[in-house]
Amino acid sequence: MTTLHDDRTEALVQEFRQRFGAAPHYVSRGPGRVNLIGEHTDYNDGFVLPVALKRDVRFVLRPRADRQVRLYSMEFGESGAFDLDALRFVPDQLWLNYIQGMAQSLEQEGIRLTGIDAVLGGNVPRASGLSSSAALEIAAAHAFLAAAGQNDVLSGPRIAQLAQRAENHFVGVNCGIMDQFISQLGRENHALLIDCRSLEYTLVPMPEDAALVIGNTRASRSLASSAYNERRSECEQGVALLQPALPGIRALRDVTSAQLEANRALLPDNVYRRCRHVVSENERVLRTVDALQAGNLAEVGRLMDASHVSLRDDYLVSSTALDAMVDAMHRADGCLGARLTGAGFGGCAVALVKPGREQAVADAIFEHYPKATSIWPEVYMTKAADGAAVEALHLV
Ligand code: GLA
Repeated sequence: MTTLHDDRTEALVQEFRQRFGAAPHYVSRGPGRVNLIGEHTDYNDGFVLPVALKRDVRFVLRPRADRQVRLYSMEFGESGAFDLDALRFVPDQLWLNYIQGMAQSLEQEGIRLTGIDAVLGGNVPRASGLSSSAALEIAAAHAFLAAAGQNDVLSGPRIAQLAQRAENHFVGVNCGIMDQFISQLGRENHALLIDCRSLEYTLVPMPEDAALVIGNTRASRSLASSAYNERRSECEQGVALLQPALPGIRALRDVTSAQLEANRALLPDNVYRRCRHVVSENERVLRTVDALQAGNLAEVGRLMDASHVSLRDDYLVSSTALDAMVDAMHRADGCLGARLTGAGFGGCAVALVKPGREQAVADAIFEHYPKATSIWPEVYMTKAADGAAVEALHLV
């Protein structure tokens, strides 16, 4: 029995039959994610605590005997094609680059790929801080691996690293490891504590009396990539300036709040504030895990609130729209905590909510957020879902 063969897959299968005149052999899935806490810590070798979403990107595919890749994207209503022996960045079809990058990354790992015919589609909102890019990379990875008969050769963390490499080197976005890792390794009803240095990970059960509501600001994230790179370099500057006083440190992960305060004079104010966010956020992630394990959801909510304040005031990655979204979420009775999620500058916020209060939070968002911003938001209610999967379809 296939668990991925639902109505959404069936729509992809119908499209595949029409375009390629046969049935696809496999379906693969890479989910989006929402990060509960641990923002801008992954590229500082720190801790993150994301969950995978039910929303995902899927490929239905059939292997080819040659090295041609022929694709149709339902989301873009567009065909794309490339030759595995002639990969090149295409500026006018950005979605194609994530798939080419993944193919390159897998071949660099020594896996000989075969061409595929595929139809892909997804329901992860794009450019919204829910990792539609990682979802696409991870779904593509499993499509190629299944076609090549190489499903079992790579570990989950390795697949995540190869997807990150595709994004860093082929697509040219300098992201950390969090998004690809959770898309690959998420588990239903669990958050995943990831140590972004060792890549060790621990499943943390989500208490049954906790629900998540995501509010999409639908505000543009135009400054996101330049500001993201700026934050990364401020963190590196912080480490370089602290190293003479703290010779053992390799990343902000190695610095405690007490050490940072004791050496504050070594840092310009902007760098100090960026470091204070990262150092305190790492501490908050670990305290959140303890609070979840103790079933203390009020404390988890407080930590999420503190994370948002730190991202807003010290890391400067919030925006008027995100602050308005978090404020709207808090107006509902039953909202335990709320914060921006993902890189920031726009995109989504996430609230931890008492069960049964999801609709009240959604109502508060629809009532208050448009008044503050003149933007009509979207709201998604979600539970932690499973990570990547691939299945044979057995169709004729
Ligand atoms: C983006 C990046 C991640 C991470 C977050 C911020 O989602 O892709 O690697 O750095 O921003 O926490």
